[in-house]
Amino acid sequence: MKPSADFAGWSRDIQARMETALAALLPAAEIAPERLHAAMRYVALGGGKRVRPMLAFAAGEAVGADAARVEAAACAVELIHVYSLTHDDLPCMDDDDLRRGKPTCHREYDEATALLVGDALQSLAYELLARPGLHPDPATQVEMLRLLARAAGSRGMAGGQAVDLASAHKTLDLAELEFMHIHKTGALILAAVLLGALAGRPLASGERAALEHYAKCVGLAFQVMDDVLDAEADTATLGKTAGKDAAQGKATYLTLMPAREARDYARELVDAALAAIAPFGPPAARLADLARFIVERSF
Ligand code: IPE
Ligand code: IPE
Ligand code: MG
Ligand code: MG
Ligand code: MG
Repeated sequence: MKPSADFAGWSRDIQARMETALAALLPAAEIAPERLHAAMRYVALGGGKRVRPMLAFAAGEAVGADAARVEAAACAVELIHVYSLTHDDLPCMDDDDLRRGKPTCHREYDEATALLVGDALQSLAYELLARPGLHPDPATQVEMLRLLARAAGSRGMAGGQAVDLASAHKTLDLAELEFMHIHKTGALILAAVLLGALAGRPLASGERAALEHYAKCVGLAFQVMDDVLDAEADTATLGKTAGKDAAQGKATYLTLMPAREARDYARELVDAALAAIAPFGPPAARLADLARFIVERSF
């Protein structure tokens, strides 16, 4: 089950497009406060797989959305993601030294700067989505804002991070682990898919339910594989410290099952994701590629 032949080229195009878009969007490092702006550019540019932007573009393709509008949605989700990584690495959270192959923000700058980088990236995401005229239908634009705000908050990513921190050195059962993963990682992945699609046109309720089911399965599979790779891949390949979860006593899928079973579970989730988007037909080919990539990836 491999991605289609031109997937590599398509994903490189999205990565390049995102680099250009984010570089234009982020304040220049010469603008005061220079150090904060330099640090924002440091974390957001020049790295990362850009999986969430790819999901937004793929969902946009599935419903025939305008790519320029999808780009704004993709940037907003990626900014929230990069903020979450910057805070996740802080000493009060996972205390990591390496991110995207570079020293983490608080290592390269300092802790207070890393905190402010997260705050500022989050604000920039909402400023971008609130841009007048971003969407021809103002109600859809408000819906996009609301979806992203909810996904980032206590009933989404931030809530999942709280459960993650509280779970260190505890045994979670499968349902508790799933709750944590669906929130800390799944919520932003769901937002990426829905925002990409909503950048196009209002969705029929069946379409929306299908995309939601796809995104929930893919989001969970993504974090299952993140847990597997933390245990199995090396630091150079990952661009972040390998083996951190076990070292910090984190509850992960690998505390409940062997890696082989976790990989099988991720593949089952991807099969369910593929079934959910089947009714979209060929326009959903990129969503299918991404679901497959998420379980076959090596970093
Ligand atoms: C890492 O996400 C953090 C999780 C939510 C699992 P990614 O694996 O997408 O990180 P980047 O964006 O490629 O650096
Ligand atoms: C982080 O999960 C999820 C976020 C919301 C950032 P992890 O702590 O497992 O992410 P990595 O492994 O450090 O990228
Ligand atoms: Mg973490
Ligand atoms: Mg971490
Ligand atoms: Mg991890």
